[in-house]
Amino acid sequence: MTPLLSAPTIRVHASFLAAMAEFRAEGVHRSPHSGLGRDLRTWHPRWQSAEGFAAYVRQVGGVATDERPDGPVPMTTFWWVDGTEYLGRITVRHRLTPSLREFGGHIGYAVRPTARRRGHATAMLRAVLPYAHRLGIEPVLVTCDETNTGSRRVIEECGGVFEDRRAEKLRYWISA
Ligand SMILES: CC(C)(COP(=O)(O)OP(=O)(O)OC[C@H]1O[C@@H](n2cnc3c(N)ncnc32)[C@H](O)[C@@H]1OP(=O)(O)O)[C@@H](O)C(=O)NCCC(=O)NCCS
Repeated sequence: MTPLLSAPTIRVHASFLAAMAEFRAEGVHRSPHSGLGRDLRTWHPRWQSAEGFAAYVRQVGGVATDERPDGPVPMTTFWWVDGTEYLGRITVRHRLTPSLREFGGHIGYAVRPTARRRGHATAMLRAVLPYAHRLGIEPVLVTCDETNTGSRRVIEECGGVFEDRRAEKLRYWISA
């Protein structure tokens, strides 16, 4: 099957839990600035149960709110799913706050550790860009740590035009 962008769905519960265990093993739950890290801290172990997972899916589905120190921002979360296999996630923030303009950008993504280096992040970012452009985000700001070679390649392969480096973050703009 071909992986697709999907709204968060209870269909992938088992593989989602396996993926979250992989992210925890990487220490993502200790990362203060990661949305995934925040979810791992907030929802583990609640999302182990069917009811807890359904509540999580409801919370992140549709247009949710990304609570940031400099203001709340509407955000859409997509999962990258192959059948019932959860492979990763990508989020689109509908507008920038001053700190997002400096460092965070419009888009955040992560591929589960056991599915990396198979082109998923590149395909996922490419697939979400039309959605961002339809929201009127033009151009899209995508940033990454300067040491994150994989993410840098992903952004460049999706047409990111480098603007500058601010506090160890590389900033790229992607136009429709
Ligand atoms: C960064 C990340 C999303 C890349 O996901 P991925 O699915 O492995 O990426 P892709 O397979 O699409 O790789 C794109 C390119 O980067 C290269 N690449 C990926 N990871 C790499 C790494 N760790 N070191 C060097 N190159 C890497 C791939 O080989 C590929 O290059 P190619 O097109 O020349 O073959 C993934 O490692 C991840 O989730 N990391 C943790 C979270 C994170 O850093 N998110 C990004 C925040 S900006």
